[in-house]
Amino acid sequence: MKRYHDEKWRSSMRVKVDYNNMMSEFLGARGIAAEEIAANAAQYEAAAKRMDEKRGEMKWRELPFNQKEVVEQILETAQNVRNSCEAFVVLGIGGSALGPIAVHQALSHQRYNDLPKEKRNGPKLYVEDNVDPERMASLLDVIDPKKTVFNVITKSGSTSETMSQLLFVTDLLKKTIGEGWEKHLIATTDHEKGNLIKIAKENNLVTFYVPDGVGGRFSELCPVGLLAAAVCGIDIEELLAGAAYMDEICSASSLAENPAYTLAALEVLAIQRGCNISVLMPYADSLRYMADWYAQLWAESLGKRYAFDGSEVYAGQTPVKSLGVTDQHSQVQLYTEGPFDKVITFLGVDRYRTEVQIPHAYDHIPDVAFLSGHTFNELIKAEQLATEYAVLKSGHMNKTITLPEVNAFTVGQLLCLFEIETAFAGELLGINAFDQPGVEEGKKATYALLGKPGFEGKKAELDAMPERKNCYTV
Ligand code: PA5
Repeated sequence: MKRYHDEKWRSSMRVKVDYNNMMSEFLGARGIAAEEIAANAAQYEAAAKRMDEKRGEMKWRELPFNQKEVVEQILETAQNVRNSCEAFVVLGIGGSALGPIAVHQALSHQRYNDLPKEKRNGPKLYVEDNVDPERMASLLDVIDPKKTVFNVITKSGSTSETMSQLLFVTDLLKKTIGEGWEKHLIATTDHEKGNLIKIAKENNLVTFYVPDGVGGRFSELCPVGLLAAAVCGIDIEELLAGAAYMDEICSASSLAENPAYTLAALEVLAIQRGCNISVLMPYADSLRYMADWYAQLWAESLGKRYAFDGSEVYAGQTPVKSLGVTDQHSQVQLYTEGPFDKVITFLGVDRYRTEVQIPHAYDHIPDVAFLSGHTFNELIKAEQLATEYAVLKSGHMNKTITLPEVNAFTVGQLLCLFEIETAFAGELLGINAFDQPGVEEGKKATYALLGKPGFEGKKAELDAMPERKNCYTV
């Protein structure tokens, strides 16, 4: 029996949301009154009903429940990779990269790639999510292609960045390995759409599928994220169990019982008060890239020009990634004394996975000695509480999400919590949270600039742009 089958353990690991500091009772005039939430009850009920009706379309919500066979295949492939190679390289961008990075950072050793091989107990992981030529070239200085497996991930199978990386890697493998090069390449893509599936079939690549109805930024819990996690030895079954647990909690239609709906409702009320910025501030290095993943989820899902009814709304809230305590010395001055245009969400951890003492060394200097005898655990917790206090005192909206500890079960919960929050926020804002026409526009313009067949019209549109004026260049 795995620990997540034990009901007592599961409830002891429940991720909690505390939104006291959003409420006028605590925050004063700039806060939300309980009566205001009550007055919106009908709106929340209607949105919850739409969520239930659309559940069948939101295929990403089924991922914690419907992947038994896929998980077995992933574990088998991951074991082969772990046995045979020294590096595992993910080629992907956006939703095909941010989830794998966030989960790896959360659940692997903090200095995973720097560990000696015997302590790492798995291949090094590199996630290549950019086409900076210097970075591309530098990869060759740290991997040996003969001992590397590349996982090319693109749902659409056509994203220029990922396809150019695939070209680069295919060429590299053919030159360095020759026959059998294709054994070093795994494809993750749509089962029929796009070019990657054609390439995968032509070359008989090991292939995993992004299920229909699972968009890039909602795809971490399918093979997009699960394979890299399993390769690094992360318990992906526990990750999915955590997501399933949170999905069950967030299936409640009442706002008061549903943490994801509550979070979304609070953000929307904050937006209505001019809080156009949503800061996510984890107090754990392990969770720092959760903020990157969340930023894409929140920005790309909610940043929409049109509402469902076709009216122009220019909706959205700008996500900002922050890190406690590091950004206390960079951003918190702005959070406390700057404009009332942001909501800060602290992401805390009750028990860190290790305890580190702060030793005695300079007891004769009281201003230093007060730290000795405490732990770094106490220090980071005290700093989080102190920052929450300072932000509250300054009248700025804030709330806290707490993980009892960082493990696969709680990280699975967190992913699911944010995904459902985002979907519900989309309902409240009246926009489609699952498309990304703004991203598509940039993708098409890139195709046109690089001469992709079929984009001649877009090229003509770009060529017809007015020439830049020298007088506006300095
Ligand atoms: O969320 C999304 O859909 C996007 O951010 C995509 O993940 C990103 O554009 C990459 O797309 P693809 O996986 O098709 O290469």
